Amino acid sequence: MTARPSPVSRRRLLTGAAVAGLGAAAGAGTVAATGQETPVPVAVTQPQTFPTGTAAVAFHGPRQAGVAEDPPAHAAFVAFTLAAGTDRRALGRMLRLLSDDAARLTQGEPALGDTDATLAALPARLTVTFGFGPGLYRAAGRPAPIADLPKFRIDRLERRWSGGDLLLQICADDPLTVAHTQRMLIKDARPFAAIRWVQQGFRRSPGVQAPDHTQRNVLGQLDGTANPRGPEIDPAVWNEDGSTTLVVRRIRAEIEKWDMLSVSDKENAVGRRLTSGAPLSGHEEHDKPDFTTVDQSGLPAMPDFSHVTRARVEDPTQKILRRPYNYDDAPNAAGLPDAGLIFASYQRDIARQYVPIQQRLADKDLLNEWITPIGSAVFAIPPGCTEGSWIGAGLLS
Ligand code: HEM
Repeated sequence: MTARPSPVSRRRLLTGAAVAGLGAAAGAGTVAATGQETPVPVAVTQPQTFPTGTAAVAFHGPRQAGVAEDPPAHAAFVAFTLAAGTDRRALGRMLRLLSDDAARLTQGEPALGDTDATLAALPARLTVTFGFGPGLYRAAGRPAPIADLPKFRIDRLERRWSGGDLLLQICADDPLTVAHTQRMLIKDARPFAAIRWVQQGFRRSPGVQAPDHTQRNVLGQLDGTANPRGPEIDPAVWNEDGSTTLVVRRIRAEIEKWDMLSVSDKENAVGRRLTSGAPLSGHEEHDKPDFTTVDQSGLPAMPDFSHVTRARVEDPTQKILRRPYNYDDAPNAAGLPDAGLIFASYQRDIARQYVPIQQRLADKDLLNEWITPIGSAVFAIPPGCTEGSWIGAGLLS
């Protein structure tokens, strides 16, 4: 992809030949008309745009965007605590405002009162997904379809990464788009809610590898192989009314300890080959793991304690849709990384789908030696909305 405009020669500018071609060579027409050489004409080309930047994902529809699409490269998960006394009417006002912002920004238009309208021009597949935590339902006086996760023995949860009454999951292929959107939305939410936590994450950028290629996470593992795809997504993720649920876990990885393992130890911990992502019982990435295969020493090829063995689900309605982002914050004073996954998982029902998998992993998963959950939050993802309506209208109006 050639992002750089071709150089424009000074002579072409002066003869005006470049003007027709470039359209906006500032001042060059005047120079050509008067025949006088003014110093240093600046070649300003039409702003060039590329599909990666201009791509827009529809905001309106029966289901919210930001769940089933291929995840964009950058994400900010922004969780809020509602101000004391926020009632159903105030919630309605806030969500109308935020829905309007999201509807505009996702289509490359500035939000109302946008102080940096130029930053809205390239949505880069921007999505804004609204999540309602248990506290929002309490404030609305409505029963919540979600409840906090039970405590797992592996958890070392910190309040600064946990809980939340409202979540805005902002994803785009460009970090400036995410930053601008985050700022505009926080500004409008401020009268109603305070920031509880913000988690920023990243995945491979578009154009870096083929779109159907599974991404690697910060631990170097191919991550996403067994995720539901296409028609498998509906039975796992979407309820009939267009709603779903989201679990966000911040999981710190002891990367330097992980680095000390041999390749085969790493592979045994996950149950898949590092290079190809193939299950240890097979050859290709998408071979189905076979838990009856034994290796040369007569032991199960897929170790009993491996992550994949423990997490495996066959029933399509029991699966979860994983949408993890990497995080890599500033290393500590000793130079040790502060990195891991913002593990985001969508499913119809957290108690029925997510909890049993998490319980099996908490009970026995060799990967636990190198990963620690330090944050946890649950959200209902209400249905999408039609044009002119807003997210949460069904609950609050
Ligand atoms: C830092 C934390 C984690 C890492 C590094 C990690 C890594 C992986 C990797 C490399 C795979 C194999 C490839 C794939 O199918 O994507 C995998 C599979 C899977 N993981 Fe995780 N994972 C983590 C946390 C979790 C958590 C918290 C859950 C759910 C509670 C989970 C559920 C699953 C499931 C359901 C599969 C697919 C198993 C299958 O059907 O083959 N993972 N994970």
